[in-house]
Amino acid sequence: MTFEVQHTDNASDARAGLITTDHGTIKTPIFMPVGTAGTVKGVHFSELHEQVKAQIILGNTYHLYLRPGLDILRQAGGLHGFNGWELPILTDSGGFQVFSLTGIRKLTEEGCTFQSHIDGSKHMFTPENVMDTERIIGADIMMAFDECPPGKSDYQYAKKSLAMTQRWLDRCIKRFNETEPLYGYNQSLFPIVQGCTYKDLRQEAAKYIADKGADGNAIGGLAVGEPTEVMYEMIEVVNEILPKEKPRYLMGVGTPQNILEAIERGVDMFDCVMPTRNGRNALLFTYDGTMNMRNKKWENDFTPIDAAGCDVDKRYTKAYLHHLFKAKELLAMQIGSIHNLAFYLRLVTDARHHIEQGDFVSWKKSVIDRLGQRL
Ligand code: GUN
Repeated sequence: MTFEVQHTDNASDARAGLITTDHGTIKTPIFMPVGTAGTVKGVHFSELHEQVKAQIILGNTYHLYLRPGLDILRQAGGLHGFNGWELPILTDSGGFQVFSLTGIRKLTEEGCTFQSHIDGSKHMFTPENVMDTERIIGADIMMAFDECPPGKSDYQYAKKSLAMTQRWLDRCIKRFNETEPLYGYNQSLFPIVQGCTYKDLRQEAAKYIADKGADGNAIGGLAVGEPTEVMYEMIEVVNEILPKEKPRYLMGVGTPQNILEAIERGVDMFDCVMPTRNGRNALLFTYDGTMNMRNKKWENDFTPIDAAGCDVDKRYTKAYLHHLFKAKELLAMQIGSIHNLAFYLRLVTDARHHIEQGDFVSWKKSVIDRLGQRL
C-alpha cells in the first residue's frame, strides 16, 4: 500500500491524498462503510458502488472469526473471495468489539479470553492469533490488536493499558513480519494510538507508533464518552506527531460535524456505524440537518428525500419513506442506509474538492451549523 498527499490546505492541516492498494485506489479524505459480518447491512454491493460510491469497506475480525469462521473464509479465498467485493477492505482487529460486545472473562499480558455473543463459547484473542486471523480474512489493511480502555479510565489504568497495547503492537508487528499474505496480494498493518484523554499518554503513544514506520496509523479510544472538544484536542496532539506522509485513520467517528473537524486537523480515514444504524432507525443526515422520517410532518411532503442526493433520494419522496418506516417495511431500512452512506461519501468528497480548491475552512464553517439542525 502507498499513500500520496496530493493537496494540503493553506489554512488548516486538511489534506487530499491517494491510497493505492492491490484492490484499487482510495481518494482521501474517505469514509469507510462498516460491513461487520462481511455485509454492509441491507445494502447490495451494486448500490454501494453506484449510489454510495464507496471506495473501501470495513470488516470485523471478531465477528468473522466467530461466524462464518476461519475454515470457510480460507476455503473461499478470504473475505474478498467470500463476499465478492472487489475493492479494498480494512479489518478491525477485534480489540474494540471484544470489549464492547462480550463479557470479557480475563485480560492478561498474553491476550484476552472472552465469550462469544452468539453462543457463549469461550475463545482467546492474542496479538499473534489475531494477526493470523486477519491474514486469513485477507483485508488490504489489517488493524493491530489493542485494548480500547473505557472512556472514563483513570490515569493509572490508562497508562498501564497503553503500555500493554504497545507490547501487543510489537508482538503484532513481529507476527505480521513473520507471515505472508495468503491470496497473492499485499496487506498493510496499521498500529493504533491509545492513551484515553491524557495528553502526555497520547503524545507518548503517537511517538511510539511513529517510529514503527507503518504504512498508515490509526487513532483509537475516542468517541467513547469524552466531551467532543477533548476528542478534538487529542486528535491535534496526536497528529502533531504522527507522520504527515502516511494516512491517519480516526476509528469509529462520527457525526458529519466530527468528520469535518477531524479532516481540518489532518485525519484522512473514517468509519462509523452511525449512517447505517441511524438510517435503519429512520434518522437521515442531510446538509440542512437531520430528519426523523417517523415524524408526522413528513406524512404529506411529496418532495424528494434529497433533491441533490443519490438516485434513491431523487426517486422516492419523504412522504413515501415516512409511510415505509411506519409500516415497518424492509425497504425503509434499505433506503435509510443508502441515503446516509451516500451522504457521508458526498460529505468527504465535497471536503476533498474544497481542499483542492483551497477554501476548505470557509466551506466547513458555512456547513457546520446547518448540519446540526433538526428538520
Ligand atoms: N473502533 C473504534 N475505536 C477503536 C479502538 O480504539 N480500537 C479498535 N481496535 N477499534 C476501534
